[in-house]
Amino acid sequence: MAILRNVIQDTHQRLESAGIPDARLEAEVMVMTVMRMPRQSLFAEQESEVSGQQQAGLEQLLARRLEREPLAYILGQREFYGISVVVNPSVLIPRPETEGLVEHALFMAMMGMESRDLVIADVGTGTGAIAINLAIHLPAARIFAVDVSDAALDVAAYNIRGHGVADRVTLAIGDLLDAVPEPVDLIVANLPYIPTGRIPTLQPEVQKEPLLALDGGPDGLDLVRRLLIQSEDKLKDHGIILLELDPEQVPVVQGLALQHFPEGATSVEQDLAHLDRVLVIHSQSPE
Ligand SMILES: C[S@@+](CC[C@H](N)C(=O)[O-])C[C@H]1O[C@@H](n2cnc3c(N)ncnc32)[C@H](O)[C@@H]1O
Repeated sequence: MAILRNVIQDTHQRLESAGIPDARLEAEVMVMTVMRMPRQSLFAEQESEVSGQQQAGLEQLLARRLEREPLAYILGQREFYGISVVVNPSVLIPRPETEGLVEHALFMAMMGMESRDLVIADVGTGTGAIAINLAIHLPAARIFAVDVSDAALDVAAYNIRGHGVADRVTLAIGDLLDAVPEPVDLIVANLPYIPTGRIPTLQPEVQKEPLLALDGGPDGLDLVRRLLIQSEDKLKDHGIILLELDPEQVPVVQGLALQHFPEGATSVEQDLAHLDRVLVIHSQSPE
């Protein structure tokens, strides 16, 4: 029978030889999953035996991962801003950089927007991860979580119920803000923003995510442009839009935003890698 230390090493090597990034971390997560073991035990119990059944389970996970299926789809879940959300191939896997969008939305809501009972739109909600976190951290807020994909909304509905926030998060299907029935204080959007021509160059894992969640048209900004148009009628006075973007797109979208909101102001927030990632658009200048 194999021992845990060797099984981790072997899994690590097989992932690494296949060119899979973060091979060691992924090997540990896979072994923890089949052994139903918390992380601390993984290190404390290096000499323990791995049963034949556990090894067979690991082989099944590995076969899928070596086909470059994303680990989050194989495990069926992903951690995001301190919560776990269910994921499947109908939804984009929430990214660490999007946690910054949540962080800034909470900051704006708590500091900038005073004590109003906020109405928020999460546009292109996917798993619902952004909307759920806003609902958890802003107990007086009402949130409309919209997506054009029926299959994504099924996943969001499951996650929203699972986190006990269905009373304040309303799901709606539709194009961008079309399905939001009333003006909102805050629009938060991580829309597809990858230029169409760049999609074939993405990592194989990313290409297994829904095209609808990635493809932003020729320059990546088709949906952002349309969102800004719709926002003119759907944002309350002194409302705020937070957009996650590719750093290269930020200056262009800043210019567009000020065309739609001539009395407005913009600022840029960076992600953990110090890249411009979140554009903050005030419909009226806060000063
Ligand atoms: C980049 S994913 C973001 C998912 C999630 N908000 C997150 O950050 O992990 C973009 C989402 O926008 C949705 N979407 C694409 N076109 C849309 C449209 N016209 N109206 C509303 N949602 C749209 C996709 O289905 C997808 O769920």
